[in-house]
Amino acid sequence: MGGSRAVRDPWDVTERPHTKAKLRLLSDYFCRWLVIWNGPRQRQWATRDWYVIDMFAGQGRYTDADGTVDGSPLVYLEQLAAMSDKLRANDVHVHILLMEKSRKNFKALQANIQDFLDNHPTIGDVASVTVRRDDCNSETAWAEVASLPVGTNTPVFLLVDPYGFAIRRETLDRLVALPGRKDLLFNYMVSGVKRAQGIAAKPREALSRREEATLATYSDFLGQDVVLGEDADSPQEYAEAAFVSKGYYVVAYDMDYPDRAGTLYYLLFVTKNKEIAEMARGMFGESKKQGFDGQLCLWSPEQLKAQISWFLPEDPV
Ligand SMILES: C[S@@+](CC[C@H](N)C(=O)[O-])C[C@H]1O[C@@H](n2cnc3c(N)ncnc32)[C@H](O)[C@@H]1O
Repeated sequence: MGGSRAVRDPWDVTERPHTKAKLRLLSDYFCRWLVIWNGPRQRQWATRDWYVIDMFAGQGRYTDADGTVDGSPLVYLEQLAAMSDKLRANDVHVHILLMEKSRKNFKALQANIQDFLDNHPTIGDVASVTVRRDDCNSETAWAEVASLPVGTNTPVFLLVDPYGFAIRRETLDRLVALPGRKDLLFNYMVSGVKRAQGIAAKPREALSRREEATLATYSDFLGQDVVLGEDADSPQEYAEAAFVSKGYYVVAYDMDYPDRAGTLYYLLFVTKNKEIAEMARGMFGESKKQGFDGQLCLWSPEQLKAQISWFLPEDPV
């Protein structure tokens, strides 16, 4: 990289249509998650305390040429505020746990959450927020997650949205093993995986210290049971090992680079419910129809839906 390229502010999304597209998908999906769990069928057996766990919470808000864009923490709160009357009517309370490692981002996140709560004084009936500054792979972070009173009938929404491959596989496995009715949205950074595969193909003695460190992080990310072959373009092997083998459906949305051909990352929607997996595929088809620049693509949403990959468990649990 050298010093030739200006360092971009990661909290300015003006030229990052893929980040805005991801946040729109998150918002749509979270809205539908709330509607589904607040429905009469689910209410018959699900608890009224629901949990949202965001392991890489960020600052809560981005800047954009036109103003600001909500990051994941504010996406939840905005959707909860919009649905608060319907949730209140059913005595639902959503507990949000936000984990953020960087001091600077954590401070900005605290301020953005406080600002939102100050402007929505009645939201406390339906939502509460805990913000923790911690490394999500640490034992203290895990103790915080494990202390949540999640039972088998508790709805849980999980977001794992790291830079690169900062989530260790053992952390992910613990999250997947939590009790509760979990739906998970996972950002699988295929561009980072391909870069790491390139480093792994070099002779050991040719590696720089930095490359060795990257490979160690990469190996912690993959876990022992994932050995990627030549083709690192697909999230399938990782999805099979981390989710499908445990009875989950995985729907993979390929997020293209904004300025060239190829996939930057996959958003993996992970659920045990086949209907929710179908719904996510449909939602992805709609999103593909729109594209980054608002130009409608020629395929119909149904055709686009059919192009969205999904990986299915053999014996759904
Ligand atoms: C891609 S950003 C998250 C964006 C956020 N989900 C959103 O949609 O607005 C990743 C964030 O994770 C934080 N982070 C990186 N490593 C972490 C770790 N090990 N534990 C917790 N947070 C971490 C970074 O400081 C950064 O704020």
